[in-house]
Amino acid sequence: MAPVAAPSPNVLTGKSASRPLTDRYGRAITDLRISVTDRCNYKCVYCRTGNEGAVYADLPIDDYVRMARVFVELGIEKIRLTGGEPLLRRGLLELVRELSRMRTLAGEPLDLALTTNGHLLEEMAEPLRAAGLSRITVSMDAVDAEKFARITRVPGSYGRVLAGVRAAKRAGLAPVKVNCVLLRGFNEDQIVPFAQFSREEGVIVRFIEFMPLEEDRRWTPESVVGLKEIVAALSGFRPLRTMAPNAASETAVRYTFDDGVGEIGIIAPVTQAFCGACSRVRLTSDGKIRTCLFSQMEHDLYGVMRHGGSDEEMAAFIRRTVDQKEARHHIGEPGFLKPSRSMVHIGG
Ligand code: 5AD
Repeated sequence: MAPVAAPSPNVLTGKSASRPLTDRYGRAITDLRISVTDRCNYKCVYCRTGNEGAVYADLPIDDYVRMARVFVELGIEKIRLTGGEPLLRRGLLELVRELSRMRTLAGEPLDLALTTNGHLLEEMAEPLRAAGLSRITVSMDAVDAEKFARITRVPGSYGRVLAGVRAAKRAGLAPVKVNCVLLRGFNEDQIVPFAQFSREEGVIVRFIEFMPLEEDRRWTPESVVGLKEIVAALSGFRPLRTMAPNAASETAVRYTFDDGVGEIGIIAPVTQAFCGACSRVRLTSDGKIRTCLFSQMEHDLYGVMRHGGSDEEMAAFIRRTVDQKEARHHIGEPGFLKPSRSMVHIGG
């Protein structure tokens, strides 16, 4: 039998060629989401109750850079910056610049994305692109100005976000994706208008099933507008054609229409959970690792660093943490426990 080769040092980095970051179920963890602030300038009805009593514990930009670097050296290939609202974060462009210089284990630039509510995007799209951002996702829950303001609870928000989406396209942050969380009784009448929006604006629209991550506990199984219902509404508008997934860990089921114009993704964590293909791990704005949106526990990576931990100690901590990643979430099952933090504090 051939002897098993010992890991050889990487000629470029001088470091041991590391095992890719995997969990105990064999899932490769290649996707990191970093929340850079808990603050948000919107108060979307399905997310937040308000800012009352909030304590913000954002870290210095350099600390996110160091933690991200250790993750990337372990095999992370994609980083998405989130919040709260990341465009409120001072130093964001510097962070994007630093991340855009990092290379994956294969020597490629990172796939560097950001999710925003779009309110400040018109001014920020070009600087973000220049700093090295690859792609952007804008959260938009209606394509009707009045309905939009009722959801965000900020008057005049629709015009700003629309201008932001168009600025992102002009800046070349393509493909621009628009995320719409569907909430029964609020915006399920927006499915067809969003399909038209995708076709007219040349953006990818993604409908997301509502998950129990909100501050005020309004989630019920009935409040979820599920994949089948979305497909039925879209098919009533125009015949749909399915598209092949982009990657094995793709969360969205993709569709276009009979004429190939427009692209719709449906993300169905409730009715068609994709936990078995999950490649994600999250870092909260105060430097704690969450291995699932619905984790009951967080792992204090920043604590390891603050106490003088070396890069190697941080890497070992990350490996141990990722190994414990939950098999799946339990939304809708008896005994389901809400996560220990809500979406605005976790990062989308
Ligand atoms: N369920 C589903 N999606 C949510 N988002 C925020 N809260 C929820 C929820 N409870 C979405 C945001 C954003 C993305 C990161 O997550 O609208 O687009």
